[in-house]
Amino acid sequence: MAARRRAGDDQLMTRQLIILTDPGQDQAAAILTILGRPDAFEVLGLVATAGNIGLDHTLGNCLKLLELAGRPDIPVFAGAPLPMRRDLVMAEHVHGPTGLDGPDLPTPAIRPQAQHGVDFIIETLRSRPEGSVTICGLSPLTNLALAFRIAPDIVPRVKEIVAMLGAYFELGNITPTAEFNCYVDPEAADVVLRSGLKITLLPLDVTHQMRSTRGRLDAFSALGNRSGRATDEMLTFSEAFDLKKYGWDGAPLHGPCVPAYMLAPEIFDGRTCAVEVELTGKLTQGMTVVDYWQITGKAHNAFWVRSGDANAYYRLITEAIGNLP
Ligand code: BDR
Repeated sequence: MAARRRAGDDQLMTRQLIILTDPGQDQAAAILTILGRPDAFEVLGLVATAGNIGLDHTLGNCLKLLELAGRPDIPVFAGAPLPMRRDLVMAEHVHGPTGLDGPDLPTPAIRPQAQHGVDFIIETLRSRPEGSVTICGLSPLTNLALAFRIAPDIVPRVKEIVAMLGAYFELGNITPTAEFNCYVDPEAADVVLRSGLKITLLPLDVTHQMRSTRGRLDAFSALGNRSGRATDEMLTFSEAFDLKKYGWDGAPLHGPCVPAYMLAPEIFDGRTCAVEVELTGKLTQGMTVVDYWQITGKAHNAFWVRSGDANAYYRLITEAIGNLP
């Protein structure tokens, strides 16, 4: 049965987050949404991931976003420069040569931390109370999977994982069958999906419904703050590729589905089911194979979000970004 998760106790508490990210304009919108809601989220650190673009750029882009949002206090860590077992596939064709083309962002004064992102994940999970840290996945899951491999004792210490990853009903965006974040590092997604943790996935099935029409983008600029203007400029740049590809009235806005789901699960629908990653298929590597119709009887390992209310989504993220400088 499809289910709508109700607003619960989680929403009354501030969630402590580790953010895995490869900005990327849509991750930028997700990070700004999170930073705009300090009542709901405490960000323990950003782990820059190799994905949309190489690690040197995603690291620099994380710093630029924190500078933009006036949050130099949040630490940024460089993660692994490559997926666990594969060459890096990037999405420069969507996000531009810096990964964050569009706005003219301030040069960051903030510096990255010396500690490796994987060590940061391990140390944070070991030092914080068990079940208190949520992993917010906006990128390939490389660094989390490496942390789980190196330090299996941290796995049960995670509260839950909420990640933008996968596709089933919408099929692929980087190959005909695979979604980008899963395709870049399917071995990492596989490790995480087998962790036994509480996992919520926001796949293309839902992100393709969240279309950045001109009116929705103009609403970011109309906020009158620099973060709103930058969001409009970033998404205007990155949506060009998808507008041409899909011929829709707006491009899918993927990343902010993760914070939006944590803030307002009641605006989304989905169900728990068995989700597996294809690691070896000739045509299907990186595909998320979802037993949405409960055909196999396999154990459920994730809540798969299939749909959401786009108007409520854009209201939520626009209001959050409106709280920033
Ligand atoms: C994901 O792929 C990336 O290119 C986007 O930034 C998003 O994280 C969507 O498949």
